[in-house]
Amino acid sequence: MLLKAENVSMQFGGFRAVSGASLEINQGEIIGLIGPNGAGKSTFFNCLVGDLRPTEGRVWFDGHDVTQASPEEHAKLGIGRTFQLPATFEDLSILDNVMVGAFLRHPRVSDALEAAHRVLELTGLSEIAQQKAKTLGTPGRKRLEIARVLATEPKLMLLDEALAGLTPVEVRRAIELVRKIHQSGVTLVIVEHIMEVILTLTDRVLVFNQGKVIASGKPSDVVNDPAVVEAYLGRSLSRQKGLAA
Ligand SMILES: Nc1ncnc2c1ncn2[C@@H]1O[C@H](COP(=O)(O)OP(=O)(O)O)[C@@H](O)[C@H]1O
Ligand SMILES: [Mg+2]
Repeated sequence: MLLKAENVSMQFGGFRAVSGASLEINQGEIIGLIGPNGAGKSTFFNCLVGDLRPTEGRVWFDGHDVTQASPEEHAKLGIGRTFQLPATFEDLSILDNVMVGAFLRHPRVSDALEAAHRVLELTGLSEIAQQKAKTLGTPGRKRLEIARVLATEPKLMLLDEALAGLTPVEVRRAIELVRKIHQSGVTLVIVEHIMEVILTLTDRVLVFNQGKVIASGKPSDVVNDPAVVEAYLGRSLSRQKGLAA
């Protein structure tokens, strides 16, 4: 088992954003997290990667108890995450943004450069590597965000709505990229509203609603689960239609 989260809760003052969530991830899996806005997906994510310390529960990664570990320790152990809002260095080149990630494993500039170029190749950014990050449009930004994390050579990569805001064609390209990343040996957790992404990529899905895991299982089964449909229906009919699509 690569990651195990046991009964993780996160309390903000009097508000429980995540309540007793558990998850076990095996090497090589692609896990999806879905649920309405505000369900606690990003908060749970943050508890897994060390950006938040859960108020209850434990998290283990690759045999280490990481419940209290810092984001840097998580990155060193091999957990990488994208942010819902990309955190790029706007005035740096695309290459240099990726170099920031590559330095984690490769202290020597020449080694980091070599590693960064491998990642740029994989993510389809090689040809524009010298451009500044701020010149990128939405699809390029999403790719760069993924590239920066990939450059840290994670064993487990968590994508938090990394494909939001893309057109259907761009989504399909991004799905291909995620497949390539998976084939290169990276285990993945994906938070995504786009059902096409969840249904085509994931082996197993966890559904969050109001901080709790209300269902889990094969994606095709879970999207037909009445409790899941109800959770979406309770918020928005249009989203429920998206679910069925
Ligand atoms: N730092 C915080 N302080 C207080 N409340 C928060 C904080 N972060 C998230 N929340 C609340 O926790 C709930 C879950 O948020 P979030 O995990 O971002 O949901 P999701 O990613 O599923 O949309 C929301 O009601 C949100 O307002
Ligand atoms: Mg979120």
